[in-house]
Amino acid sequence: MAFTPTLFSKASLFQTIHHSNQRPSMAFTPTLFSKVSLFSYRRTFCIQLASAFHEFQPNKKWRQPVASVLKLGGVKIAKDEIVRDNPTNNVPDSIFSKLGMQLHRRDQHPLGILKNAIYDYFDTNYPNKFDKFDDLCPIVSTIANFDDVLVPADHVSRSYIDSYYVDSETVLRCHTSAHQAELLRGGHTHFLVTGDVYRRDSIDSTHYPVFHQMEGVRVFTPADWEASGTDATSYAAEDLKKCLEGLARHLFGGVEMRWIDTYFPFTNPSFELEIYFQDDWLEVLGCGVMEQEILKRSGRVDNVAWAFGLGLERLAMVLFDIPDIRLFWSNDERFTSQFSKGQLGIKFKPFSKYPPCYKDMSFWISDSFTENNLCEVVRGIAGDLVEEVKLIDNFTNKKGMTSHCYRIAYRSMERSLTDEEINDLQWRVREQVETKLLVVLR
Ligand code: PHE
Repeated sequence: MAFTPTLFSKASLFQTIHHSNQRPSMAFTPTLFSKVSLFSYRRTFCIQLASAFHEFQPNKKWRQPVASVLKLGGVKIAKDEIVRDNPTNNVPDSIFSKLGMQLHRRDQHPLGILKNAIYDYFDTNYPNKFDKFDDLCPIVSTIANFDDVLVPADHVSRSYIDSYYVDSETVLRCHTSAHQAELLRGGHTHFLVTGDVYRRDSIDSTHYPVFHQMEGVRVFTPADWEASGTDATSYAAEDLKKCLEGLARHLFGGVEMRWIDTYFPFTNPSFELEIYFQDDWLEVLGCGVMEQEILKRSGRVDNVAWAFGLGLERLAMVLFDIPDIRLFWSNDERFTSQFSKGQLGIKFKPFSKYPPCYKDMSFWISDSFTENNLCEVVRGIAGDLVEEVKLIDNFTNKKGMTSHCYRIAYRSMERSLTDEEINDLQWRVREQVETKLLVVLR
């Protein structure tokens, strides 16, 4: 599926957890969710997190993880609180190491530059209206991430295959919509939330298990729509479209756009905005009129609201000509030095591209096999040296056994890899694929 929309849009509407392991791999999702322990410990942990995400002053600082402790506000979060050897936890070390990096808060980073450009649009068109949050804790309750935004009990995004669970009631947010209800309850009526979001997914140049989203919400009161002569929902939908078309023009200039009807559990009606860019329709965001139930539960019975969510990497890759999503995480000066604060128009000039190395691997799958689990194993061993994991052959024999052949592309963004290094990676991948995924190598 090329350029697939969001985890929550119609592509996954009919998928339930039960068969989600057959989900087709999605290209360019801007978008789709083990140790110490015991009850006393967990209770402490939950209280700490609760305090962390109930006081969301924007100036609260995160520090980059040092060794195995992350500090959020005044709260220290140890690695073994997030990465636990427990069946209810599926957060690997590689994901823990991304917590607190907050690329979107770096003014010289493409994601920070883009965030600021979107802020500029809202500041110019709605002076002092929108409250901005870019420092809310990404560790949230399943209630905030799913229930509060009406994600159905059997929705694919709730599965351990698609989302990162810290424990059965706590996840790494899979979308910034996780903060909608909480902020509405806190009395906010116009807000933008930017943050890192986490999803287990396939591996290619446009997918990374951590990416960044910006959520926008605007609430209207009867006085807003009554004078217009239209009903509340049409009024909000029209305002939403006008606002987002303006934003797209602000970012992309005079582009052709179109609206596509879609589905999200939290909005109705729901839309996707596509722009015509470099000979192709590109989905840039998902949005809609907020489900009345969300407003009602937040104590806003007479109101109507719109909401949108956009994936920053997807937009930044297009706006800055960035060819591979791993580059956003690069500390290589040849990448970082190309961008400056406030400069949206700059085009990235690739430094020489190092050759890829391909390794194929065939195995008989087990019932529990999923591509996301395979990708996690490969990512855990090869880190950012893996560029793509692609299914190149798939058949079922007469005995009903299914074989998959995956091609793994290894390539560093920064240097040439030696044969020895790649062979070592591939050997470890084979070993772990066999032991962790219970497949039989062929
Ligand atoms: N949360 C949705 C996603 O990540 C995007 C979205 C936000 C859609 C708000 C509609 C309204 O896929």
